[in-house]
Order: sequence, then C-alpha cells, then structure tokens
Amino acid sequence: MNEEQRATIAAVRERLRSQPRVRLAALPTPLDDCTRLTAELGGPRILIKRDDLTGLAFGGNKVRQHEYVLGRAVAEGADCLVQGSAAQSNHSRQLAAAGAKLGLETFLLPKLDAHSDPVQGNYLVDHLLGATIIPIGAGESTIAAKAALVDRLRAEGRHPYVTGMGADEALALAAVAYVEALFELVEQMTDPLQLDAIYTASQGSTQAGLLIGCELLGLSTRVVGVSPLGPDHEAHIPLDEVVALVHRAAEILGVTTQIGRDDIELRFDFVGDGYGIPSNDGLDAIALLGRLEGTLLDPIYTGKAFAGLVADIRAGRIDHGKTVVFLHTGGLPALFAYAQPVIGHVRDTRAVSCTNDHD
Ligand SMILES: Cc1ncc(COP(=O)(O)O)c(C=O)c1O
Repeated sequence: MNEEQRATIAAVRERLRSQPRVRLAALPTPLDDCTRLTAELGGPRILIKRDDLTGLAFGGNKVRQHEYVLGRAVAEGADCLVQGSAAQSNHSRQLAAAGAKLGLETFLLPKLDAHSDPVQGNYLVDHLLGATIIPIGAGESTIAAKAALVDRLRAEGRHPYVTGMGADEALALAAVAYVEALFELVEQMTDPLQLDAIYTASQGSTQAGLLIGCELLGLSTRVVGVSPLGPDHEAHIPLDEVVALVHRAAEILGVTTQIGRDDIELRFDFVGDGYGIPSNDGLDAIALLGRLEGTLLDPIYTGKAFAGLVADIRAGRIDHGKTVVFLHTGGLPALFAYAQPVIGHVRDTRAVSCTNDHD
C-alpha cells in the first residue's frame, strides 16, 4: 500500500469515529490462503476473508453491519428491533443475537416454508436468543407484515427500529461497515495491487461497501456480487437502488463517489432454481472447499457465490497470475436445515466417501 492509500484509510476511519456504533464483531477476521484449492484449479492465488468468523451466534456479515445499524438504532432511542425474512434468515439470527446483547427486544417475522418445520438451523437459533417470533404465511408480504407490526408497536408507545428489506438507511449503514472491512482486508494483504477481484454473495449492501472502499483506494479490483435470488424476488434490490445506497453510504462517510450502474457487477447466473433452493454447482462448491481446505460454506448464499468464483477461474476469466479474494459472509447454520439435499448430493456425486448409514 502507498502513503496516499494509508492517508485515505486514516482519514475515513477518523470520520467514521463520529458515527454511532456498538461493538459486536470479533475483528479483524482472518484471511486464509487456500493453497490446495489454488493448486487444484491451477491459479490464481485464492484467499478467503473469513467474515463467517465475526463471532456472535455463528457470525456472518451482518454482525459487522449491525455495529453501525444498531449504533444508529440506539442513538435514535429505539427500544426494540424489527426484521422479517425467510425462516432460515441469517440476518434475523444475527439481529436477534445483537438485540440480546444490547438488551433490545427483537421481533422476527419469519416466513414459514419447507425449512421452518422441523425447527432447525437459523430458525432454531432464533428461539434460543430470546427473540419474539411472529411467523407469517408463505403467501404473505414481508414488507406489509413488517409495516403492520411497526404501526402496532408505535401505537403501544414503543420505538421500533426496522432493518432489512425496505429499510434504506440501515442498508446504507451496512454498506459503510464494508468500506471498513475492505480497508481491513487490504491491510492484511502483502500486495493489494495484485488483487484482481473480490467475489461475494450479494444482495447489495456488502458489495456497495466493497466498491466504495476500492474506489477510495484507487484499486481497479473487480467486485463481483453473486445474487442468491432472481430479479423477480421481493427481496431483490434493483441496480438503481444499489447505486442510491452507494451514494448514501458515501455521504455518511463524507466522501464523493463516481460509482454508477455499470460498476455494479451483480450476477444472477448461480441462483439455480431460486432463493433458498440448493443448486448442484453450489453443493459441488461446498464439497470442493470442504475437501481441500477444511472450510465450510452454506447452500443458500456462499456455496452459490463460491460456485461462481470456481466457474470463472475454470473459464479463465480471472488473471491466473493474480490474487482473488472470496469474502465469506457466513450463513453456516443453514447447512443443518438443508441436511437432506446436502447429504443426498454429496452421496450421489461421491464427493466424499460415506462408509456407513449412520451419519
Ligand atoms: C450469508 C449471507 N451472505 C450474503 C448476504 C447478503 O448481504 P448483503 O445484503 O449485505 O448483500 C446475506 C444476507 O442475508 C447472507 O445471509
């Protein structure tokens, strides 16, 4: 890193000190060098930034993001938190854990589906974190259910803080957390100029923050977001809105940005059959990384994103002489809620040898 980049990081960190923040995450997270995987794929050098290890109730990218999001909630006098998502939501689990730690009642509106019964994975953990759980039907709108709950809480004199889908300021604060994460990553690297690309599972915020961080440091690194859901899904954030959240995050940071639609590489080619449905290449990617590096991925977000990275390396789309970083955003409890499709695929493809029937 050069002096100008160091000065930029110091200046942005200084400005960030004025942002309300609560401490939740175990930082910095490790940066793993995947030498066996790199050798198997014939280059480039592959590093994994382990944001699955942010601590707090199985960790993940939201723990880092909630430091700023809930910092704002506390500063605004919130006395409870509201979030609605799939029953196996990682966001909900990490919010409930943060709410427990901060003493804020957390209302979760999980959408019931094939992975909410029997109770397993993230949904099981939610129940252990003291969250108030109000399930909604598969056909109901999460945004509408959240709005109705918020109205009721306000009528009762409560001060709810709403996160996730539709909560634009919280999404921008989540992006801010990933500008800082990009700085953390760059400081861990011996030669950030060799960083050809960063791949991550993305719904917008994390990728927005990484893009701003690269722009601030003058890095030409590609930031590739692999979406876990198609553009027709209720939780999809259209590109113009991602651009808007980039600009709002930059404003919070007190910096300018030139990032526009064309700079946001958000891919939908690894969604498979849809959100929450494991894909064959995602399950292959999980088995590959587990077998070669002893590192786990989840079937809904990171497995699919990693499949995108592996496919691009195999197709020669990443400079083999350079370095690529996979940002591991967590989500591992979902592995247990999807045990059947995961083990079925592993057995079918003989990716591991199962020597008995008792696993
Ligand atoms: C494991 C995992 N990865 C990635 C994401 C997407 O994060 P973002 O909304 O910041 O793009 C999520 C969102 O819930 C997630 O649970």
